[in-house]
Amino acid sequence: MRLPIITANWKMHKTVKDSLQFAEEFIGMLGEDRKGIEIVICPPFTALYSLGERLRGTGIEAGAQDMFWEEWGAYTGEISPGMLLETGAKYVIIGHSERRYVLGEDDTAVNRKVKRALASGLCPIMCVGETLAEREEGRAVSVVRRQLEEGLKGVELLRPHLVIAYEPVWAIGTGVNASPQDAQEMSRLIRDELGSLFGVEVAQEMRILYGGSVNPGNIGGFVAQPDIDGALVGGASLEARSLADIVKQTEESVYGS
Ligand code: PGA
Repeated sequence: MRLPIITANWKMHKTVKDSLQFAEEFIGMLGEDRKGIEIVICPPFTALYSLGERLRGTGIEAGAQDMFWEEWGAYTGEISPGMLLETGAKYVIIGHSERRYVLGEDDTAVNRKVKRALASGLCPIMCVGETLAEREEGRAVSVVRRQLEEGLKGVELLRPHLVIAYEPVWAIGTGVNASPQDAQEMSRLIRDELGSLFGVEVAQEMRILYGGSVNPGNIGGFVAQPDIDGALVGGASLEARSLADIVKQTEESVYGS
């Protein structure tokens, strides 16, 4: 069975102080009696080290929201995989739609980042997903397929050390989530595509997340789907209570109450 994973993407929210306060509340709310759900929190770079230190030993991981594909050099404003590893980060989100559409990141950049993350020992959470216009034009499947093929070009995987997040752009931060059935359909297609890239066995072990207006009320429907192994959560991960409820609902949906 694939270990479900709930990932919080805080985007450009929370200072060091806010992050540590969140950690105190969240750890307290989760309590000791936890079932098998992996939890990853991705704060802004500035809070990564202190949050990572606070989370050490709790079973909750810290991750980054992005990285650059070189290890050092004249790249003003960029952060390298080695710098992330030093903070204790284990995961890195790559190719989030806000990076693609607000900051102009293309499939080639995503591909470079995924390869470098893997080579460095970070687990990439690579995001794919169609825009509203692409969906309305009936191109959702071809767009997601292209993002997978281009983003994973030349990537060799012997073990499933890579997570894919399906995030339809029209569902991000809008309060309008995809239906669990639609998200499942796309996730199955993603798994098929991963099967042709890496072999069916590896693809079966890889985790696929849904992202886009996930909240405590709708998470259960997503993780009950056979090909959805968790969620990438933005807005609803900013409050400790809400993220703790998402984890609880995931436990109930996957393992029963
Ligand atoms: P949202 O964001 O949960 O606020 O829709 C999800 C994401 O961007 O990863």
